[in-house]
Amino acid sequence: MLSRTLARNVTGASKRVSALSGVSMRRQFSAIRSYSTDKDNKTTHFGFKTVPEGQKESLVRGVFSNVASSYDVMNDVMSMGIHRIWKDHFVSRLDPGRRPGSEPLSFLDVAGGTGDVAFKILEHASKTHGDRQSFMNVVDINPEMLAEGEKRARSETPYFDENRISFKVQNGETLDAIPDNSQDLYTVAFGIRNFTNIPKALETAHRVLKPGGVFACLEFSRVDNVVLDQFYEFYSFNVIPVMGQLIANDRDSYQYLVESIKNFPEQEKFAQMIKEAGFTLSGPGYENLTFGVAAMHVGVKL
Ligand SMILES: C[S@@+](CC[C@H](N)C(=O)[O-])C[C@H]1O[C@@H](n2cnc3c(N)ncnc32)[C@H](O)[C@@H]1O
Repeated sequence: MLSRTLARNVTGASKRVSALSGVSMRRQFSAIRSYSTDKDNKTTHFGFKTVPEGQKESLVRGVFSNVASSYDVMNDVMSMGIHRIWKDHFVSRLDPGRRPGSEPLSFLDVAGGTGDVAFKILEHASKTHGDRQSFMNVVDINPEMLAEGEKRARSETPYFDENRISFKVQNGETLDAIPDNSQDLYTVAFGIRNFTNIPKALETAHRVLKPGGVFACLEFSRVDNVVLDQFYEFYSFNVIPVMGQLIANDRDSYQYLVESIKNFPEQEKFAQMIKEAGFTLSGPGYENLTFGVAAMHVGVKL
């Protein structure tokens, strides 16, 4: 069964976990780093601000509406192109694509934004496995981000074919339009840290995957190298918001984006949350990229 093959590939990938995994040395943000929404008072974090839980979704939607048209350019500038290397690595480790003799697959890219990861998955499936039949569902809460993705799909990629890709507005916490046990691969890249209720999103991921299906997340994480961490901290808080102002004329949205990274749980804690949602991990369940600036987490629904 192809989903088993995928699961096996992923298991192999997650075994190759960097020896550099571990928690960041820097603790200055430890009070705000722990993930939890304050359920009693119904508040949560929005960057470093505390906001009513019910407001977070529209605040996040506002940020991405503001950045949608400049998102791809800013991504390249801010990460010096490194996000492309991480995404390529993410996709090649997952090795998605229909194997000979099996049914076409159903891929789901949640918080898919402008489509970067979705296009890479379709490209990998085509080039590596000759698979032009598996289907990609790109979903995101923000219609402006999806509109940018659809525009890119039409103009830049050979994958725009309504039989191969669809773009839908969906909240990753509920995925109302995605049936139970329907997906072979669920990906979420640089999106889940923006969700209000991450455990609920993980349970939903488990719901929509077929048995044998693979959950894979690429997200900013905790840097495990003191020198890099200090540089990264300085760069994040002093350079990125200024670039946001200069390039996108929007300092606040980029300030939120760097703050949201600090609130996201560190590698081990997030792996535990994936496990608690019902997924099986291999080894620690994650691989650090660039000393933990980003991390790839993988779980399999058995
Ligand atoms: C930083 S972008 C990442 C986009 C893309 N995955 C990439 O790697 O380039 C984060 C995306 O998460 C989406 N998002 C935030 N909260 C969401 C939610 N609850 N459900 C679905 N998408 C959400 C935003 O609209 C935005 O498009």
